[in-house]
Amino acid sequence: MPDNGEFRFLLSALRGYLADLKESGVEGLPYEKESRETGDEREVSLQPQCVPDGESSASAKLEIIRNELGDCRRCSLGGSRTNLVFGVGNPDARLVFVGEAPGREEDIQGEPFVGEAGRLLTRIIEAMGFSRKDVYICNVIKCRPPGNRNPSPEEVESCHPFMLRQIQAISPEAIVALGTFAAQTLLRTREPISRLRGRFHDYHGIQLMPTFHPAYLLRNPAMKREVWDDMKAVMQKFGMEPPTQKQTPEKA
Ligand code: URA
Ligand code: URA
Repeated sequence: MPDNGEFRFLLSALRGYLADLKESGVEGLPYEKESRETGDEREVSLQPQCVPDGESSASAKLEIIRNELGDCRRCSLGGSRTNLVFGVGNPDARLVFVGEAPGREEDIQGEPFVGEAGRLLTRIIEAMGFSRKDVYICNVIKCRPPGNRNPSPEEVESCHPFMLRQIQAISPEAIVALGTFAAQTLLRTREPISRLRGRFHDYHGIQLMPTFHPAYLLRNPAMKREVWDDMKAVMQKFGMEPPTQKQTPEKA
């Protein structure tokens, strides 16, 4: 029997092994009990259960993450939400938009960015030559904070890992972080959005462009120019062709 120190070491090694498996795309380990021929002793097989690579792998991974969230009660928002708002769009998107948390409309419909700010985001996406179905849209926090209050650090802590896994499943070329909360949470900084925006940052090996939140643009329409500059920088860096028609968010 290992002593306490040894036990802790084994536990930490096992934890590391599991973290490595997870990092390499293993989504779960089946708990298989096999009877040995020699007696009643049972053994557990730790055969990694891989999601097969292929066309539907990102979508299968997203489904696994969604199922894991289930009827989530990991934080108190689970008790007050109408719908958990997971995310919408293309599982193989090149571009992911991340907002803060669902608002009233999103909570009712179960889809991110469908209220007034969402309609402006849709117009920005369309001005880039995409539709909502081409990109992927989600929030850091999956359930509406009552009265749209700011999410608490505990809520961020329990929800953010799911968003990270969602993004890793999609593996996009770029992320657009919408507004102060998403940008500061993803980049683990207190720097204001006005200083973060306009340049690329690294988020777990993916290029991240912070920009102003569409709700902020509704109050400060003059800032649409900055957001459009940020979107043009994303399109240029990743060779995303802007549409030929002269439709910009300023006109949308
Ligand atoms: N604001 C957000 O940050 N996310 C939404 O889904 C809607 C509004
Ligand atoms: N404040 C925010 O919360 N978001 C912005 O985009 C700008 C200011």
